[in-house]
Amino acid sequence: AAPQPLHDKIVVVTAGPTIEHIDPVRYISNHSSGKMGIAVAEALADAGARVKLILGPTSRQTTHTGIETIRVQTAQEMFDQVMKIYPIANIVVAAAAVADYRPVNVAGKKIKKGEAQLHIDLEKTPDILRTLGDSKGPQQLLIGFSLETNNEKEYALKKLREKHLDMIVMNSLADAGAGFNYDTNKVTLFDRDGKESNFPLKSKQAVAQDIVSAIIELQHA
Ligand code: C5P
Repeated sequence: AAPQPLHDKIVVVTAGPTIEHIDPVRYISNHSSGKMGIAVAEALADAGARVKLILGPTSRQTTHTGIETIRVQTAQEMFDQVMKIYPIANIVVAAAAVADYRPVNVAGKKIKKGEAQLHIDLEKTPDILRTLGDSKGPQQLLIGFSLETNNEKEYALKKLREKHLDMIVMNSLADAGAGFNYDTNKVTLFDRDGKESNFPLKSKQAVAQDIVSAIIELQHA
């Protein structure tokens, strides 16, 4: 058999949402299902990679034998797990929808309802991908995702540049059949040289194949 293109590569994939606790019963999160990230992890493992999947809270999972799953809840936990493996990782694919803000204080007891408005102070969570980009080694590849509702291309290219990525996967909530919880997605890839590749609406598994093919091309570039 032909050698697999990602044989022995150590690849970290983040996927799913994070949850940021408000008190013991409440949290802030988003609509990510983790489907796209899990599909990418499976396609990478099919290509021979040793995949560590850092997965936020979702009912989705994978039983692929080439994937070791590490479950996390918060952005901080995801950050800590990714940073632990980063020094030996060849490729990182950040598909997680990390919460951008978290409560400054997490109440130890359930917050009781009162008559007045409730204000919760929020602080920024650590930007995992930006931290990785700032300390990227010459042989490491970083792939990010961009999900927006407007000005998609402008924001995607800004992230590609500012986070020192090798490639960004752009998807838009404005496209029918694309985004949270769908089994399909429609993406555009931008690589570090500004090359743009547009793909039609496909299953998330087929989109994952396109992303992995592009990663394999980047490796040789
Ligand atoms: O800036 P924005 O959050 O839209 O960037 C999206 C990309 O950055 C995704 O690849 C996401 O997984 C990653 N990200 C991250 N840590 C954060 C926020 C986003 O790794 N705190």
